[in-house]
Amino acid sequence: MNHLLKLLDLSGEEINQILNLADQLKYEQKHGIAHPRLKGKTLGLVFEKESTRTRVSFEVGMYQLGGLAIYLNAKDLQMVRGEPAKDTARALSRYLDGLMIRASSQQEAEALAEYGDIPVINGMTDLAHPCQVLADLMTVREAKGSLEGLKACFLGDGHNMMNSTIAGCLKAGMQVAAACPEGCGPAPEVLAFARGQEGFLLTRDPAEAARGADVVATAAWSPAGSESECAARRAALAPYRLTEELLSLAQPDAVVLHCLPAHRGEEITEAVLEAHASEIFEEAENRLHAQKAVLVTLLAPDAK
Ligand code: CP
Repeated sequence: MNHLLKLLDLSGEEINQILNLADQLKYEQKHGIAHPRLKGKTLGLVFEKESTRTRVSFEVGMYQLGGLAIYLNAKDLQMVRGEPAKDTARALSRYLDGLMIRASSQQEAEALAEYGDIPVINGMTDLAHPCQVLADLMTVREAKGSLEGLKACFLGDGHNMMNSTIAGCLKAGMQVAAACPEGCGPAPEVLAFARGQEGFLLTRDPAEAARGADVVATAAWSPAGSESECAARRAALAPYRLTEELLSLAQPDAVVLHCLPAHRGEEITEAVLEAHASEIFEEAENRLHAQKAVLVTLLAPDAK
């Protein structure tokens, strides 16, 4: 594993190894055991978009691992004045040991990985949010003991979170049912992978997806262009809102996941979010541990 660009690139075994290391690093942190596996290493954090969890968890993670994180707002970089990714990547490779990027397009993250000499980590693009779904899998495994054979359901918009949930859960040996309206489905490359796997269902019926699920996940709906497009999109997505009624179709001990930020009354109700806040905020915490495992795997594999 040279980069973390999307979960489609990883094997089930590689995902399992990251989760095992994440559990170990969480244990060490909780028990006050120093774990400076990245002493002397520097990570660049490029953000083209806003972030609360991703920025803070990467910065804190590098600190706890004995390394340094440098926050780089994309609007302060020459990239916004047209410096191509291949030049940015080659220059930054001369200073840094790794680069995380939150970008509008997956192609940009892929270009940095192609032209640079250092590991690139996708901190969310239009296509994928692999760090989030590694944290999600960690959270489910903590709650359920193992992942194999569990049924996950994802309700709502077919953007990066649905894409990465489908890819990550299937690779981890889970079944996945995704429910979304017409025109809001997962990316073609994710569908091409998922359709070849056992235990994948894509449906327009949110009740069919939620029925019997061990894990119920949703995420913010992505914005559309104009005001009228936005209203039409919200109306189409409304039946996929995670409500108590839909959740009652899942297993009684189903784990509810939301990557946050949440929009109460849109993709999830206040009642569901607050009833499952302990899982959702454990999921947020696990960003820290899962990403530390990714960083060690990529930047210092001998220190695992
Ligand atoms: N879930 C997530 O990526 O959160 P941020 O947008 O706050 O980083």
